Amino acid sequence: PTIYRKDYADPTYLVDTVEMGFDLEPSLTRVATRIFMQRNPAGSNNEIVLFGEELELVQLRLNGKVLRAADYKLAGGVLRIPGAPAKVVLEIETTTRPDRNTSLMGLYVSNGNFFTQCEAEGFRKITFFPDRPDVMAKYTVMLRADKKAFPVLLSNGNLIEEGDLPDGRHYAKWEDPFKKPSYLFALVAGNLVCQEEKYRLKSGREVLLQVWVEDGNLDKTQHAMDSLINSIRWDEERFGLELDLDRFMIVAVGDFNMGAMENKGLNIFNTKFVLANPRIATDIDFANIEAVVGHEYFHNWTGNRVTCRDWFQLSLKEGLTVFRDQEFSADMIGTDSGRAVKRIDDVRVLRQAQFPEDAGPMAHPVRPDSFVEINNFYTVTVYEKGAEVVRMYQTLLGRDGFRKGMDLYFERHDGQAVTCDDFRAAMADAGKRDLKQFERWYSQSGTPRVAAGVHYDAKSRTLELTLEQSCPATPGQKKKQPFHIPVAVGLLDSKGRDMPLRLDGEKSAAGDTTRVLELTKARQTFRFTDVAEKPVPSILRGFSAPVVLQYEYSDAELAFLMAHDSDAFNRWEAGQRLATRRLLKLTTAVQAARQSGHVVSFETVLGNQDQDSALSDALRITLRDETLDAAFRELVLTLPSETMIAEQMEVIDPHAIHIARQFMRRTLARDLRDDLLAAYKACGTPGEYSPDADASGKRALKNVALSYLVELDEEEVLTLAQKQNDEANNMTDRLAALGALTNSSAAGKAAALEGFYSEFEKEALVIDKWFTLQATARNADVNTVRTLATHPAFSLKNPNRARSLIFSFCNGNPSAFHALDGNGYAFWAEQVIALNGSNPQVAARLARSLDRWRKYTPALQEKMRHALQQVAASSNLSRDVAEVITKSLSN
Ligand code: ARG
Ligand code: ZN
Repeated sequence: PTIYRKDYADPTYLVDTVEMGFDLEPSLTRVATRIFMQRNPAGSNNEIVLFGEELELVQLRLNGKVLRAADYKLAGGVLRIPGAPAKVVLEIETTTRPDRNTSLMGLYVSNGNFFTQCEAEGFRKITFFPDRPDVMAKYTVMLRADKKAFPVLLSNGNLIEEGDLPDGRHYAKWEDPFKKPSYLFALVAGNLVCQEEKYRLKSGREVLLQVWVEDGNLDKTQHAMDSLINSIRWDEERFGLELDLDRFMIVAVGDFNMGAMENKGLNIFNTKFVLANPRIATDIDFANIEAVVGHEYFHNWTGNRVTCRDWFQLSLKEGLTVFRDQEFSADMIGTDSGRAVKRIDDVRVLRQAQFPEDAGPMAHPVRPDSFVEINNFYTVTVYEKGAEVVRMYQTLLGRDGFRKGMDLYFERHDGQAVTCDDFRAAMADAGKRDLKQFERWYSQSGTPRVAAGVHYDAKSRTLELTLEQSCPATPGQKKKQPFHIPVAVGLLDSKGRDMPLRLDGEKSAAGDTTRVLELTKARQTFRFTDVAEKPVPSILRGFSAPVVLQYEYSDAELAFLMAHDSDAFNRWEAGQRLATRRLLKLTTAVQAARQSGHVVSFETVLGNQDQDSALSDALRITLRDETLDAAFRELVLTLPSETMIAEQMEVIDPHAIHIARQFMRRTLARDLRDDLLAAYKACGTPGEYSPDADASGKRALKNVALSYLVELDEEEVLTLAQKQNDEANNMTDRLAALGALTNSSAAGKAAALEGFYSEFEKEALVIDKWFTLQATARNADVNTVRTLATHPAFSLKNPNRARSLIFSFCNGNPSAFHALDGNGYAFWAEQVIALNGSNPQVAARLARSLDRWRKYTPALQEKMRHALQQVAASSNLSRDVAEVITKSLSN
């Protein structure tokens, strides 16, 4: 059944406190819950509504009296007690089977230890409860378990008591002093060890910080601990938000559906976002860990202290917290150029994943209006587009204005469960701005287009910039109203310098050479006066809004912006536009050549087409410019991905795209050979490994240079790759070298892959990389992946492993996945069906790999539809998978 936002109703009962007792046994855990509740004056009746799934109900007592079957109704996971008194103490005894819980929601066992995941609706798999985020309560939790098997017993808040029990058992009692919704409940029990540190807050209060891992992993916790400390300090400095607990714990678990979870005081993390040292983790892993540790920590205020009224408001906490973690990561780099690199990275994710989502059958507003399964709405739209929406407040109000809005938000709503409208109201009131129209960013799905037109009049020295917005139709939303779009603009003179900006009617030019124009109508013209010469406009600087900017730059203008724009984002953007333009031309040429039948070699056909050296020349200038950060140069050198190119096409032809992009890589490698080699040699990072921005930027540039150079198939280069593979002292260089070898004709590549496996056999996260590398290798096809799936180290039950092989292939190797024979799709269908049986949430993620099927060539479409229908027809389809497949086939 579909759930609608408009149907929101206040809870009938509110909970003051909850007392829980757990007798933890993997095969059968007993849970005794005592809930102290009161009728909600705002509720519509006196029926208590509790949710419970996959539970055995042992006993139910209301105010001391055992309830009989006739006293309540239990159906479809909902338990209703009608005619309840105003004050209720409800006592519930249930049992669950954690070791059979493969969904990894609720209470489950991973590698012999107990963990929980309650967001969004997992608490109902632990006990019957009004499991909805607007019911906030104080929790006391008693954990009992065998002391030998489960020496560590953790839950939210503070440890208030522990001790031994008969029969080799022991207990720990935890109390969380803060009211929280049930989705923030957590417990962990098992054989774990921790790195701990005492940390003094700015206020002088001392807190205990712990990172818990399995025995043997204590050499991989330092970076997470450092990241936590940096997060605590950052939130104090940037937002004046202090850690409110005396104890803060992070626990790593190897089986986890998502990245991590912000349970109050007891964050539970996928090992992928905790464990790191130079031997096993890449620079990207180090950066991701910092971001995710920050993200979960920041939730303590944006999510936990102020939470969501209902799950439609998810972006209230997720969009805001992603924005906060992005800002944190940027501040940790510290330099302007480093911030730009971070911004480009974030925009790449948005365009690569969110723009397609917004244009596909699962498109939904940042604040959805309906869902079937809420777990399907932990999306790039709610998270990443939601973060862009929050960023736009900051762009419109300024940094200080935004901070005032945040302060007001906490002043008004601390301890409450609120809505996206409440957040917008705080921003509007603090900034004294009318943000009514801004609401459309929450209610309208789809990526807006902003078309720009420029008219310069030399005589009057005026420049007219006309901006026109539109937004394509999306499922359920045919017509859109204009958005409130901040468009940051600068003008470059013929020397490439920023020109002073003076809008019509202003007395003089403003000091700032970037201006935020506010586009609120379908079409608006902005007039700049005193414009001394015809400028090149730099529009949407810093990607000031999540839109597609349409402006017909000439190749020369793009090369000019690449060389001169003071806005680093638009400098990069100009290069991407130039590259995309050529890639699309080449793709069309491949299609035309194929159509004509007798293609001897695409190399020759494309070689005749591609005489233009504009891109090579522009890239060479960037590559040689040592005033630019290596990290930035690496981004400029990286061509738009095949997925990105696909999204630019009316009809997606993955094979033509692949051929065109590979051709372009070889061409660039040839044109830039000497400069690439020079960059490779200049960017070594000898000495002790550090994941800092400078060193990781150098490694990124060095390794992208290597990946181009191996395209040349020269002995000299293959030797370099082999040498790097043999001598690397860190995972970044090692993996890059292994990848380069794997995608080359090097004789030693099979041995390199084998050597890598045996060296890292015991490091699950590294073996994930080993699977991914092979699944995305250039010569991989579905049979490669089928063979790898029979490897003893492969398991579909472990989400990280499933993602490393299956998801990597289906989402990260388009030309192989979309093989003309449809075998990739058949494989996909098998895997979705298999996962559906064990883990619906992960299955539904994989199900989304075909959701853009209508964009492909007719032959591929037909085969995709067939695979989708095959999944649709399979029995016992979970709500999660059914929603994705149904929407994919119908929209
Ligand atoms: N709130 C978590 C985070 O963003 C994500 C949890 C999602 N879990 C889920 N089962 N959908 O950090
Ligand atoms: Zn989050």
